[in-house]
Amino acid sequence: MTTTPLDVLRTSLRDLTCADPRLEHEGRILTLSGWVDRRRDLGQLIFLDLRDRYGITQVVVDATESPEAHAVASAVRSEYVLRVEGRVAARGEGTRNPKLATGDVELRAATITVLSSARTTPFVINDPDAEIDEAVRLTYRYLDLRRGPLQRRILARGRLVQAIREVHHAAGFVEVETPLLIKSTPEGARDFVVPSRLQPGSVYALPQSPQQLKQLLMVAGMDRYFQIARCFRDEDLRGDRQPEFTQLDLEMSFVAEPDVMGWVESMALAVTRGVAPERPIAQVPFPVLTYREAIDRFGSDKPDLRYGMELVDLGDAVAGAGFRVFDSVLEAGGRVMGITVAGQGGISRGQIDELTEMAKRFGAGGLIWLAPGADGSIRGSVVKALGEERATAIARAAGAGEGDLVLIVADRDIHAQEVLGRLRVEMAGRLGLADPNVLAYVWVHQFPMYQWDADARRWDATHNPFSGVMPDDLGLLETSSGDLAAADPGDPAGRARALQYDLALNGWELGGGSIRFHTRELLARSFALQGYSDESMVERFGGILEAFEYGAPPHGGIALGVDRWAALLTDQTNIREVMAFPKTSSGSDLMLAAPSPAEPGQLEELGLTRAPRPAEG
Ligand code: AMO
Repeated sequence: MTTTPLDVLRTSLRDLTCADPRLEHEGRILTLSGWVDRRRDLGQLIFLDLRDRYGITQVVVDATESPEAHAVASAVRSEYVLRVEGRVAARGEGTRNPKLATGDVELRAATITVLSSARTTPFVINDPDAEIDEAVRLTYRYLDLRRGPLQRRILARGRLVQAIREVHHAAGFVEVETPLLIKSTPEGARDFVVPSRLQPGSVYALPQSPQQLKQLLMVAGMDRYFQIARCFRDEDLRGDRQPEFTQLDLEMSFVAEPDVMGWVESMALAVTRGVAPERPIAQVPFPVLTYREAIDRFGSDKPDLRYGMELVDLGDAVAGAGFRVFDSVLEAGGRVMGITVAGQGGISRGQIDELTEMAKRFGAGGLIWLAPGADGSIRGSVVKALGEERATAIARAAGAGEGDLVLIVADRDIHAQEVLGRLRVEMAGRLGLADPNVLAYVWVHQFPMYQWDADARRWDATHNPFSGVMPDDLGLLETSSGDLAAADPGDPAGRARALQYDLALNGWELGGGSIRFHTRELLARSFALQGYSDESMVERFGGILEAFEYGAPPHGGIALGVDRWAALLTDQTNIREVMAFPKTSSGSDLMLAAPSPAEPGQLEELGLTRAPRPAEG
């Protein structure tokens, strides 16, 4: 961490910050400015803790030394903003405060100027553990930001962004700003639109990401671009999603997959070691899993590798057991998968019922469990149907021993793994298996390119509509019938794997990117499979398709969620906790009261009509 030289922080209203006074200043007359963090009135003596972003200094106001300052201090309250001039004095032996950087000294006030008074705040500022209703915190965010914990996280986020910038500049990346009023760039969410006043009836879209623009910068020959980019997505909010968020967005020319992954890995390591040097990184180089492996071993394409509890394929162990659920799933090409939860064999029926309900909410038909006990005994939901011997063999195949619990899901391929993957996360959470200190980065790549959308009759890009295909699978796009009316999930396109890579961190998707198609022909082929007619693809993506006719370099890139990264590095489970001014889960800014009804005349000016209220019919 860089420290700012003191003379930079000196201003007309202060000589030092509230973090600076030390024994070496003893006897000097200094001026500090800040907020009253705490005030203790002992009559003749008033103690004021003066606070700014940098720290706290104790001010002593002694009526016998300076009656005028004492009169002012008698009237000040918490959160008043003061300028205090006084003499730095060493504190007496018993009164030093080792918890405070300035704890060996105090400022003996000669003059106090009230720069600003303060009403009683809606919550206490100086208690970091205070439990405050989140709506109140968001309404008074400027006061919440004065509090230590949030302020420290916002500062940490600032250092993260600074480190990102420094590392990229040092590696020849050029920082380019791209516009916010653009045309829709689909990333799987709804657009926020901005109506045009000059062209009534037309709208801009706010970018879901700068995807097309950064690719056009590669066509423009910029070679290596990055941006701390603001993105907007109108989608359901969760702990790791906000409608407005920030990406580290980058794109590189003349690269293949290992080049981008290699850069991002070395960059992520440098940044992490720079801003969170105390956090151990689980594995370097980062492990690389194919999507298939990630799903089969962890039931997730963003696996948390801080703990094991890997999925086990129980297909062989259950085959021929004569149990209808297993047989029918296996016959239909599905999977029977299990996890072993160590030491949880004593689980109660009530807890099993709760887990079963959870598995059903995750989309499973049900949950099967086995708990091998002492002397070859075994409890479980299917022991009767399978017989003790077979049940024990299955538990053993799952890796369970005496006292362990096996959870089994039998369902469609991928779906079975995903349900179990969510149970894995749930059980790890309950048992505290993940070391909160460790950072476990992992790459996942070779994702399926498309997913068949039977209703819309098209191949939806599973990630990015611009992603290229693995060279070995290019033939699958060529042999795909391309006839969406006649297509089905068995079409070769369904087996194509994208040149797509995601970076996960502690079970969160931190980033995703790909090597792109860089010829018009292949991009158009991919768009056609995604259901775009020749006309509609030109209408939506004409700009980039045409650009590719003027010499586009092979290129690829990635975007990492800065909010998510900051949250993970500061141990938060909600990205609101690392955003200065986040929105509520219903998308409101409680502080500024946005969104708000349009002003009279605003809609007319934009050529829009107000939707009738329900009551108006
Ligand atoms: P993608 O859609 O995977 O890729 O987004 C990249 C990363 O952005 C973050 N992110 C979000 N963070 C907070 N709130 C949201 N609503 C939100 N949505 C996404 C995640 C995610 O991994 N253009 C491509 C990148 C590329 O291919 O280069 C893109 O945007 O951390």
